Amino acid sequence: KGVAIFVSGGGSNMRALVADMVEDHPARPAVVLSNNADAGGIAWARAQGIPTEVVDHRPYGADRPAFEAALNAALAPHAPDIICLAGFMRILTAGFIDGWAGRMLNIHPSLLPKYKGLHTHARVLEAQDAQHGCTVHEVTAALDNGPMLGQAVLKVAPDDTPDSLAARVLTLEHRLYPAVLRRFAAGDRTPVLLHA
Ligand code: GRF
Repeated sequence: KGVAIFVSGGGSNMRALVADMVEDHPARPAVVLSNNADAGGIAWARAQGIPTEVVDHRPYGADRPAFEAALNAALAPHAPDIICLAGFMRILTAGFIDGWAGRMLNIHPSLLPKYKGLHTHARVLEAQDAQHGCTVHEVTAALDNGPMLGQAVLKVAPDDTPDSLAARVLTLEHRLYPAVLRRFAAGDRTPVLLHA
């Protein structure tokens, strides 16, 4: 199965997914796509010889359907079977998502359904939660809401800051996302549950 990985920044999750997609894996990286030509993930993928696509969202302004038509046009030559959103920072409309129903995953840095949206680490500390972590889910039209495919849990430390927490969660993401993709690409939707 070919996997398209969408990034907006450094792409550390993309790099973890690519590193795991070696010989016995049911999937391979078909393309790395970004809305940002300067994304570190694009430069890294190019250096690895992985096909890349950049679709800058800015020329489309508020016309999300036009941006998303450009996304699908950029994907077409690579014929991916699965899309993995990995630090992709653009909201996708139901129109795009419906076209990829059941074939698009996302990783979110919280224990969903808690803390949908942004600034999850600060919100966890604010709430003085004992646990935190990350979730991989199927993407549906409701933001950060689809069926859960995996979660990784860690204990919040008394001296944790949003930055220290973000760093520890990111390390968990790099374990969780590859484990989920291996199962998902093999047609197995049994949730992966990990602890730090
Ligand atoms: C990180 O905040 C991560 O928690 C979230 O996207 C951001 C960037 O990830 N999934 P990456 O390094 O670009 O994969």
